[in-house]
Amino acid sequence: MSSTLMAIRASFFDFTDVARQPEEIMAQARYIDDGVLLLEAGRIVGLHAWETLPHAPDDLIDLRGRLIVPGFVDTHIHYPQTEMIGAWGEQLLQWLSQYTFPVESQYHCADHAAAMSAFFLQQLLANGTTSALVFGTVHPQSVEALFSAADALAMRLIAGKVMMDRHAPDALLETPEQSYADTRALIERWHGRGRLSYALTPRFAPTSTPALLEKVRQLRQEYPDVWLHTHLSENPQEVAWVKSLFPQHDGYLDVYHRYQLTGRRSLFAHCLHLEDREWQCLHDTDSAIAFCPTSNLFLGSGLFNLKRSWQQGVRIGIGTDVGAGTTFNMLQTLGEAYKVGQLQQYRLSAAEAFYHATLGGAHALDLHPHIGNFAPGKEADFVVLDLAVSPLQRLRVGNSKDIWEQLFVLMTLGDDRNIAETWVNGRAVWRRDEAKA
Ligand code: GUN
Ligand code: ZN
Repeated sequence: MSSTLMAIRASFFDFTDVARQPEEIMAQARYIDDGVLLLEAGRIVGLHAWETLPHAPDDLIDLRGRLIVPGFVDTHIHYPQTEMIGAWGEQLLQWLSQYTFPVESQYHCADHAAAMSAFFLQQLLANGTTSALVFGTVHPQSVEALFSAADALAMRLIAGKVMMDRHAPDALLETPEQSYADTRALIERWHGRGRLSYALTPRFAPTSTPALLEKVRQLRQEYPDVWLHTHLSENPQEVAWVKSLFPQHDGYLDVYHRYQLTGRRSLFAHCLHLEDREWQCLHDTDSAIAFCPTSNLFLGSGLFNLKRSWQQGVRIGIGTDVGAGTTFNMLQTLGEAYKVGQLQQYRLSAAEAFYHATLGGAHALDLHPHIGNFAPGKEADFVVLDLAVSPLQRLRVGNSKDIWEQLFVLMTLGDDRNIAETWVNGRAVWRRDEAKA
């Protein structure tokens, strides 16, 4: 982190405030073709049009020709599943038992967890993602390793160890008492340290007994400012299973709700098969959703109803959900979100897509006071993009009429090649041209 004033000249794009309706997004969009971003001590000092500056800054980093946007926010991802992306042939419940649980069993080993944490964070940065809400495994050492690595990079990251006490291999199960004690120790050690925060992470209702959910409830009561991160209504068999496991509850979400696990800092991944009263409960409790298009398509789980989330006034962010999701790259994920919309006659604009990937995602995570745009005082996390890096991209971007069409082409044809630099806390932590293969 540098404590001297730094200035970067480039094109800039962000959203100046959160939107409650899709129509508000364009009003909040800000594009500055020739701008200067001022940074100091890891924070944004200001963003200005070049011609409005009274005099040229002394120390200027000239990135003209490039577009700088706020760092991408990934609202749902599993770091231990990095090594199993692209597991063939199964839908959720079989995919978990056949592929996921065996891979997660390796994270009892602290060395493995440390190696994969480093690899995972490099993948985030190489794809322009500067903040994420992350699942570990049931092993405390999995999260210990991830937090240590993220702390060294000064990343704003929320993570938690999985809590589960049934319906998984014995090696991945714990007692509710152990889960409580291990989670509590991790919260005490990591929550609020540097830019890190803790999320209570019961895997999902089917792997939780009522006794475990009671421990989660207790922890949330003891630590009201921690996050809650779990899965909800992803797959029809899963939904039916939850109803049979919890017959006394009024559907899937009611299991979490009755243990007081809904709320402003509660993030539910997927939400594809919600009933009307569940949408209403998410709204009434101000809970948020992670929309994970590549995962939902890859596992054949279903189509997220983005239009409904706006109608219900439920905040959403974008999740890659690696390793059910098939890429770390937010541009590709937005491209798939567009296709999910097309299958439901919803035309996702580039403006809306980039909103969800930046300030909207930050808002879904209740992190918008810290990150998500270039407002003065925000933490300086951003991505330097090349709009075109291949002959096809140059051809297509070249015949685009405005920035909106360019951004839409970027989310259709773009990938990690378009991420030139990633800055965290006012420092370039990843540069494509310096990256080793
Ligand atoms: N539901 C419970 N666990 C998981 C998981 O690891 N991935 C996905 N996509 N859904 C889940
Ligand atoms: Zn997931």
